[in-house]
Amino acid sequence: MFKHAFKEMPFPLFSRLFPSLVALPEKEKHSADMKRMFERVVDEHIGELDPDGHGEKPRDFIEVYLREMPDNPVFNYHDLVGLCIDFFEAGGETVGSTLAWFLMYMALNQEQQERCAREIDRVLGEHCKWSME
Ligand code: HEM
Repeated sequence: MFKHAFKEMPFPLFSRLFPSLVALPEKEKHSADMKRMFERVVDEHIGELDPDGHGEKPRDFIEVYLREMPDNPVFNYHDLVGLCIDFFEAGGETVGSTLAWFLMYMALNQEQQERCAREIDRVLGEHCKWSME
């Protein structure tokens, strides 16, 4: 997705004339795949939604949104799928790159790595699976 995502933006006219040079067909395919994927996820949530379960803690964002939908026309299926796509796109490459840099930084700075590990131990204590103790 990210490989092709922004190629057409600097050349909108050119892109319309030569769509395959800026990978527009691939990009459209990825977008359609992503939309289908999240429609399936939302549909599953709709199928599992308990109409009497409003007192219970919602398990995720989609469930919170679905619970709001009947009472507020601002919330709708189409926007929910769009929001899932937004979160997925915004959170994917950013988190992946951050973790990759984090791992490299930690590998190159063993003292900092130990400091972080100790802080995790201190804050999480026995809840931490990979305790240094
Ligand atoms: C290390 C991880 C992340 C980095 C470095 C990062 C970075 C950014 C940056 C720089 C912006 C633009 C802020 C601005 O100029 O206004 C932004 C916006 C945004 N990010 Fe992230 N992000 C990360 C993780 C995530 C995750 C996990 C999500 C969602 C699950 C997310 C959702 C969003 C959304 C929805 C916006 C737009 C906010 C708005 O304009 O109202 N981001 N992010």
